[in-house]
Amino acid sequence: MDQIRIVGGTPLKGTIEISGAKNAALPLLTASLLSADPLNLSNVPDLADIHSLIELLTQHGVKCEWDLGSKTLKLTAQTITSTTAPYDIVRKMRASILVLGPLIARCKEAKVSLPGGCSIGTRPVDIHLRGLEELGATINLQDGYIHASAPNGLVGATVTMPLVSVTATENLMMAATLAKGTTKLVNAAREPEIVDLANCLRAMGATIQGDGTDTIIIDGVEKLSAATHRVIADRIETGTFAIAALITGGELYLKNTSTDLLPSFISSLQKAGAIIENEGDGFWVKSSGQPITGVDVMTEPYPGFATDLQAQMMALMTICKGSSMITETIFENRFMHVPELCRMGANITVHGSTALVRGVDQLKGAPVMATDLRASVSLVLAGLAAEGETLISRVYHLDRGYEHIEEKLSRCGAKIERIREALAA
Ligand code: EPZ
Repeated sequence: MDQIRIVGGTPLKGTIEISGAKNAALPLLTASLLSADPLNLSNVPDLADIHSLIELLTQHGVKCEWDLGSKTLKLTAQTITSTTAPYDIVRKMRASILVLGPLIARCKEAKVSLPGGCSIGTRPVDIHLRGLEELGATINLQDGYIHASAPNGLVGATVTMPLVSVTATENLMMAATLAKGTTKLVNAAREPEIVDLANCLRAMGATIQGDGTDTIIIDGVEKLSAATHRVIADRIETGTFAIAALITGGELYLKNTSTDLLPSFISSLQKAGAIIENEGDGFWVKSSGQPITGVDVMTEPYPGFATDLQAQMMALMTICKGSSMITETIFENRFMHVPELCRMGANITVHGSTALVRGVDQLKGAPVMATDLRASVSLVLAGLAAEGETLISRVYHLDRGYEHIEEKLSRCGAKIERIREALAA
């Protein structure tokens, strides 16, 4: 397996172009199943998860034409040849569950492997399934598969979700676009990726209002048509590189993104001492030259502090002046980066869903192991700040969500390289 080698201590300086959002692109790709006409997407990131989803959509019969150079992807689901999403593909990428709603809406049936849990939690899909039942689908679980059918099509209803769930909101919003009548999603997720999906669905002819609030209303239509849509910037990548600037005491211009995508995160970063300056189609993140101030953080659904930035913020807090209490409220096991950061000299104590980070003067490079997507990037950030060499193994986790991360960082002065498997220890 590939490894990433970092020699820390260089303040990063320069510009980083932010890619399209993984968590916007994934539902946008599955939206192609809702129409027989082509969906043209631009600003599509080149990520392992996107490759996995294209593999899944292709076996459903979707024609996928991906031009990596121009980052455009044309998806045409003229005929859906299979309504089965097999385990061997779904297990690689949980977000495959996002084909369920569109398949039932378009084909009136679907057989989708239950996505297993993952390292950060059990990740149940009960809210997706209950919601589809309320829209008239019959759902049976058998042999590890979700068997769903709606022979007379879906019927609009009011669906109150017991928990705020991003992909459940996306699945149900997509399914409702072709249901008979009106659907009201109550306690809906409010993430920018939900609004981006709604914008794309509207371009395809759907009638949706309230996206971005906790109540979304969808009036079903007969069919959806061709559309062109640009994937929004990745707010998690944005936040990750903002922390890279701060943790190395440097300054970075983050291009093709906006502070509007991360309201709570930006406020926490400013409390920690970052200088944030909006300019053009991006913003500067500058270190003040003073020590990082310890800031308490609690993850919450949008517009709260994003759970996907928790591990990265913890890496920053390991070298703060003072201490930081970090509480993870979304997932039950999202502190796996803690023992790895401690191997680098961090002082972190975990009690249940709360981690107390006591700042240390300096991290020390060490061999560490990536365990999940966001934990792995927190180790990259720590390595950039640490004295000496850090060797990160199992970096396939990184490739799921960060496009060309070594190139982007080394162009700003980072001493970072990928050791290909053949040569890796
Ligand atoms: C999305 O996952 C993101 N993935 C996650 O990003 C992100 O961490 C998460 O939202 C929270 O923001 C994509 O968008 C592809 P949830 P999702 O449903 O939708 C519970 C990354 O690193 N729940 O909002 O799966 C669940 O267990 C990934 O890019 C149920 O109980 O998350 C969790 O505790 C990681 N039943 C909470 O809700 C359900 O049916 C929120 O999960 C669904 C969810």
